[in-house]
Amino acid sequence: MTGGAVEVRTITEAEVDAWSDGLEIGFLRVPAKGLGAFRSSYIDLDRTWGAFDGERVVGTLRSYRTELTVPGGAFVPASAVTNVAVTATHRRSGLMRRMMEPDLAASAARGEPVAVLIPSEYPIYGRFGFGPATEHVWLSLDAGRARFLPPPWGAVELAGVRTFLAEAPHVYDRYRAAAPGNIARPDWKWDVLAGTAPSPGGADHSRAFRALFRDGSGAARGYVVYALGEVEWESGRPQVTLEVHELAGDDPAAEAELWRYCAQVDWVRTVQALPRSPHEGLRWFLADARALRLSGHSDMMWARLLDVPAALSARSYAVDGRVVFEVVDPLGYAAGRFELDVSGGAGTCGPSSAEPDLTVPVDVLSGAFLGGTSLLALRQAGRVEEHRPGAVAKADQLFRWPVPPVCLTWF
Ligand SMILES: CC(C)(COP(=O)(O)OP(=O)(O)OC[C@H]1O[C@@H](n2cnc3c(N)ncnc32)[C@H](O)[C@@H]1OP(=O)(O)O)[C@@H](O)C(=O)NCCC(=O)NCCS
Repeated sequence: MTGGAVEVRTITEAEVDAWSDGLEIGFLRVPAKGLGAFRSSYIDLDRTWGAFDGERVVGTLRSYRTELTVPGGAFVPASAVTNVAVTATHRRSGLMRRMMEPDLAASAARGEPVAVLIPSEYPIYGRFGFGPATEHVWLSLDAGRARFLPPPWGAVELAGVRTFLAEAPHVYDRYRAAAPGNIARPDWKWDVLAGTAPSPGGADHSRAFRALFRDGSGAARGYVVYALGEVEWESGRPQVTLEVHELAGDDPAAEAELWRYCAQVDWVRTVQALPRSPHEGLRWFLADARALRLSGHSDMMWARLLDVPAALSARSYAVDGRVVFEVVDPLGYAAGRFELDVSGGAGTCGPSSAEPDLTVPVDVLSGAFLGGTSLLALRQAGRVEEHRPGAVAKADQLFRWPVPPVCLTWF
């Protein structure tokens, strides 16, 4: 199968149904009726790519503009790349590349300093300059052993769809401002979480419960969306797993109240959640932290710098210093020599003609951008070249951030 006869371009409104079917097939799902209409309510046609074999769409890729929280809490405009899929009959004929490259070019031309995505498989996107930037784990809490140290405060209430939609997005916006690696969420994603819109390939939220945690003044400080598995009767005792679809709060103390609630629902033996941070604060609220198990550690969101000075000038830094680095980027967007000067935690980054302290490929720099990657470890792996003794150690200090990046949103 060759990709040569296949036309790659952005799609029209009339082609959304065929595009949606192509997307479903690429993700190994049988297309369901009505998904095209739902998708046409939110996709940006100028950023929605299709690979057409005649009228059949055999490849899909789309991006949308979002905001990425960077270390220090600033929001940076970002292109979220998603819905990347090629039908099995047309795989490995260069179709994904023919969609990805013009989409990245268009993002760079629009001035989006960074692109982000969540790969289904690790080896796909490094070649386009993406590097792993956040990590995630499965969380499992043994409800029987989960005794919480702080006394309960505030109250948890079950919420109907309307109350959930009125309150949860505001909580999420406060949550994401404090947690680098998170992205802004379009309204339709909230409809999915509220169970009022389809969730192809994702958890079925239509049979989920929603709860809010309110503090003493009645203000919503956190929310949880959860569903219960099949109840098993073991020696006459009911047992069930509570699956957290999403839990977020203003701070770990508010989130702890929601974990407490989940663990105390009658019959619940285990509380499970994905994706959660490997650095989950919950453990510090538990009398026996081994009631909490974090497993299946893996990369989650990958980043790709398109404008190095804009991206690096937007984030904060934990220490001051200066480093000159050469970026190698075969696609060109991030290529060049740059100086990062940090003073009082604020960074200024611009082109430089000074001798470089280190040379770094764009995927490595992009992965380190959110502060969760060790440049020292990457040097040990031969991915960073040092030209001045101690330069990588200094760059490592500069790029690390005390709050590890995490992304709560599948996209
Ligand atoms: C991943 C997928 C979109 C790739 O599409 P494709 O059209 O076959 O990819 P291309 O032919 O453009 O490949 C471009 C390069 O990526 C490599 N590549 C593509 N998919 C890869 C994979 N899964 N693992 C490793 N390398 C991969 C190709 O070998 C090629 O390498 P080269 O540049 O060295 O020649 C397709 O396999 C697919 O739809 N998979 C199932 C759904 C999925 O996982 N989508 C990704 C969601 S994030």
